Amino acid sequence: MTASHPNRASTLPLIPRDRTAHPPAYDPDYKTTVTRSPRWPLISVDSTTTEETGPLFGHDLIGPLDNNLILNYTGGKAAAVGERILVHGRVLDENGRPVPNTLVEIWQANAGGRYRHVKDTYFAPLDPNFGGCGRTLTDENGYYQFLTIKPGAYPWPNRGNEWRPSHIHYSIFGHAFGQRLISQMYFEGDPLIDRCPIAHTIKDRGQLDRLVAALDMSAARPMDFLAYKFDIVLRGRRQTMFENRPEGL
Ligand SMILES: [Fe+2]
Repeated sequence: MTASHPNRASTLPLIPRDRTAHPPAYDPDYKTTVTRSPRWPLISVDSTTTEETGPLFGHDLIGPLDNNLILNYTGGKAAAVGERILVHGRVLDENGRPVPNTLVEIWQANAGGRYRHVKDTYFAPLDPNFGGCGRTLTDENGYYQFLTIKPGAYPWPNRGNEWRPSHIHYSIFGHAFGQRLISQMYFEGDPLIDRCPIAHTIKDRGQLDRLVAALDMSAARPMDFLAYKFDIVLRGRRQTMFENRPEGL
């Protein structure tokens, strides 16, 4: 992802990441990895100019309510049910420098723990005023924010009685579609994190803790919403753990 700032990046040494901390593709406690994990060594394919340069996003594609999941599904007509929260932070490179104009997208379950998705058959009700998707561009300081509701925990078939901790899915693009990174954010103090086989595919506790957003009372608004802070680091020793690849292009 640092390829979007080649001149600045070249002035500082590359900090190598710790590849031993990356979750294994095969982890039997997370049952579906048994059939999904590759059986053959991975093949590294270089990106091409097309993947790195286009298509591009324009600022005019982002609507004013796109980062407000409480209101965006109804176009501002009605608010979603649930615990109102602000989730915010910065997208940073391996040297702690902000990454501006990066598309950050999130998707999540509603307050009852159900996704608005045809394959989600959990009997918690859908909220007619909640879609569960949002997007925004980081500003010049790499800052982003979403107003949303705290997602509920939900059960999933794995080994028996398994529940996902409350979480928000994240997608971060670089300057092109080919630089997409995907991760999940958890909430400070959730006891289900320690019981989640998906979270614990990350064996290093320090790495897992970087996916846990801290309660941030300094950004909470009295009588309105709580806040959680989640910084995303794209590369280097303090890199956020991503699901889809060890690092960007
Ligand atoms: Fe999920």
